[in-house]
Amino acid sequence: MSFKQTLIALSVALTASVAMAGDLPNVRILATGGTIAGSAASATATTGYEAGKIAIQTLIDAVPQINDVADVSGEQIVKISSNNMDTATLLKLAKRINELLAQKDVDGIVITHGTDTLEETAYFLNLVVKSDKPVVLVGAMRPATAMSADGPMNLLNAVRVAVNKDSVGKGVLVAMNDEINGARDVTKTNTTNVATFKAPELGKLGYIAGGKVMYYKESTRRHTKNSEFDVSKLTSLPRVDILYSHVDDDGVLAKAAVAAGAKGIVHAGTGNGSIHQNAEKELVAAQKKGIVIVRSARVGNGPTVPSVARYTEQKFLDGDTLSPQKARLLLQLALTKTTDLKEIQRIFDEY
Ligand code: SIN
Repeated sequence: MSFKQTLIALSVALTASVAMAGDLPNVRILATGGTIAGSAASATATTGYEAGKIAIQTLIDAVPQINDVADVSGEQIVKISSNNMDTATLLKLAKRINELLAQKDVDGIVITHGTDTLEETAYFLNLVVKSDKPVVLVGAMRPATAMSADGPMNLLNAVRVAVNKDSVGKGVLVAMNDEINGARDVTKTNTTNVATFKAPELGKLGYIAGGKVMYYKESTRRHTKNSEFDVSKLTSLPRVDILYSHVDDDGVLAKAAVAAGAKGIVHAGTGNGSIHQNAEKELVAAQKKGIVIVRSARVGNGPTVPSVARYTEQKFLDGDTLSPQKARLLLQLALTKTTDLKEIQRIFDEY
């Protein structure tokens, strides 16, 4: 082969490989920290490590197999332990996602996140992302430096979910430990185990097995493109506190929430959202001051529905099957639009 022929052959091969790379879907990985980016002193350390240490490019480089699935690029949003998540970061993340998904050349988003509040960020985004392109949250229970770290395979699987056409329109998803869950129903169920993300009540949406993404169901509740919430102009959210009921509850936390300026209270009640009589007096007083009270349950399963006529007469709203922490986010967003109790109950019935 002449020198010229060699050059032509090389240029054809190069063009083909660029075209192949260009054919892969584009996925942006937004990093927020967490154990998936955690660094410990030894390979056996699965506790006592520093979360959010490792930068996103290092996490991506550790899984070169991702390059066979998608054209990925990373962006560090924050580097935190997710127990420190705050409204400012949620809004920043949501706005950035909406900006990226509006671009033709972004096909999906993966968010690396600490597992502690991953379900809250997922549900918040489920309510405010304005696109049906896939948005997938992923974390890990073992730090990146641990033996049998779960992060690399979780990250690869999250990208697989983000590029899968069946993920379109399913709302925000959580891909962890070979399972796909929907943002509304997923929760962290175990403090340390890798099989921690479950939807114990309404069930998982699907699996990632053998590299294949498989769906079996989807949420019927409003989300993403069909959601009425818009965060584009928001810089804060109304204060909503969660009060956890217990034996001897004397309502001191309700008084504290009122004093702190809460616009809403989510009461994590006993049983079907029941309220201790001493706390009830304080909640009635708070409601009369215009604070919206949503009854939720500390049980973890089952809808909170009107249990005694008195609660409805007192204008306490029902939180449906949402966990108290997700009911809080929905109430915050609802309060950005209305204080009308019928409207807020409609919102709880639809999302
Ligand atoms: C965190 O939530 O940032 C720490 C715990 C974890 O990611 O598993």
